[in-house]
Amino acid sequence: MPNIRAVRLPSDGNIERGEAVKITINGVIANAYEGESVAGAMMCEGISAMRTTVAGDPRGVFCGMGVCFECLVSVDGITNTRACMTWVKEGMEIRTQNGLQVDK
Ligand code: FES
Repeated sequence: MPNIRAVRLPSDGNIERGEAVKITINGVIANAYEGESVAGAMMCEGISAMRTTVAGDPRGVFCGMGVCFECLVSVDGITNTRACMTWVKEGMEIRTQNGLQVDK
């Protein structure tokens, strides 16, 4: 297993990033980097409420490891995608969602 810390924080102190990509979040173009999660990219854009409950209460990253399902968003039209477990890709379209969505 590779040492992730050594890859992300080399001894010279510079943070290495993946290739720059363009994504859209709620229709707004944003910059992100390969290797980042959708949740991370959204939070970098100031969006921490990724979905709402059925009652309208905001929800965002809680566990950050795919267990709690608090970070559900729509990615390229696929609803209920865990933002913390999905990696950004060039041209990805991300949307926050209200409550649980049922695909028809
Ligand atoms: S933050 Fe818990 S599943 Fe994504």
